[in-house]
Amino acid sequence: MKILAIETSCDETAVAILDAKEQGDTTFLSVLGNALYSQATLHAVYGGVYPSLAKREHQTNLSPLATEALKQAGLLKQSKHPLPLPADLLNNVRDDAFKKSIEEFLKNTEKPDIDFIAVTRGPGLEPALWTGINFAEALGRAWDIRVLGIDHLEGHLVAALLKKNTNGSLEVSMKEFPILSLLISGGHTEFVLMKELFEYEEIGGTRDDAVGEAFDKVARLLDIPYPGGPGIAEAASRSRTRTDKMGIEFPRPMMRDGTCDFSFSGLKTAVLYKLRTMKEIGEKEREEIAEAFENAARDVIVVKARRAIEITEPKVFAIGGGVSANKEIRNALTKMAREEFPNMEISFPEDDLTGDNAVMIGAAGLLREVRGMAKYESLVALGNLRLKE
Ligand code: KG4
Ligand code: ZN
Repeated sequence: MKILAIETSCDETAVAILDAKEQGDTTFLSVLGNALYSQATLHAVYGGVYPSLAKREHQTNLSPLATEALKQAGLLKQSKHPLPLPADLLNNVRDDAFKKSIEEFLKNTEKPDIDFIAVTRGPGLEPALWTGINFAEALGRAWDIRVLGIDHLEGHLVAALLKKNTNGSLEVSMKEFPILSLLISGGHTEFVLMKELFEYEEIGGTRDDAVGEAFDKVARLLDIPYPGGPGIAEAASRSRTRTDKMGIEFPRPMMRDGTCDFSFSGLKTAVLYKLRTMKEIGEKEREEIAEAFENAARDVIVVKARRAIEITEPKVFAIGGGVSANKEIRNALTKMAREEFPNMEISFPEDDLTGDNAVMIGAAGLLREVRGMAKYESLVALGNLRLKE
């Protein structure tokens, strides 16, 4: 069973093609095509994602990326005698250039050997989400195949459970529940429990900023370009090799309050105030601040994760989202889990699946389909979609 998957919730435009095979308890997924364009450098000048720019970039890049993904999958066939498109096919698409690029794509591309389409329906930036939905629905209607809406966070969760085999294929079992997930990204910081397959309960979350957002804001204070996570991590690791440090410490907000909730805006403010009191801020000082900030974020996450595990007693603890790439946080969570919960499995995404991508959307779509959990309903972009909806 083959799927074409589309992700446009934030500043990555991505199209992937996956194939699924069920074998006993396990689903094997092959990534046949994976085309991704990150707009991050375009948004860097604004210090964060600029929604109308994101929308425009998705509109420009969706058709070329779909062509590229089909080509990689060996499924691209030029159409010699294009069928006429339904007259009302693109009525929902208001932007003329986008309309034209979808028309061109559909006229030039013969219906590929794809069984259905999956597209992110939320959460995220609504104008950005709509571009993916409109594109998916146009393809779905022109090719007469169904379009399944997927929750972006479900994508991150599934990505955290995929294991890469030596032959490069991905495998996932998802038979043991509950699965506790910690989703940490630029837009989200939350614990969600998967009690049964695709049945969710929210366990805790941030009351203000997401942890990735805090990394990005602190990076901005330190003149580290957007997205700030990788730059902070790099600066922090340089600082860790030094011995001549000032001993900067930042608060660990809400660490001992007994909840599974987070707050990161105070931590960012603490960095701002610290910088204001410092007379000289050179490379060394910046790096030490990055380290102190990363340590504080790491410690809060570990304490909250321990609490969430104690409450929910999961079989598997899966950490996903852009911030799950952070080595310091990964190592600390892994150490805690191995030492204190040796019977629980801990799982992180492969390095190329931590941030936003379409493989995770395709994987979630295929799993839902092969396990009889796909709900086909008319698609609406839901900026604030929650996993239990
Ligand atoms: O999942 P993602 O690509 O997009 C959202 O859905 O938000 O996550 C992006 C976030 C950004 O805030 C970025 O700074 C952060 O993930 N990030 C990191 C690292 N790599 C990316 N944060 C900390 N350490 C990293 N190595
Ligand atoms: Zn994401």
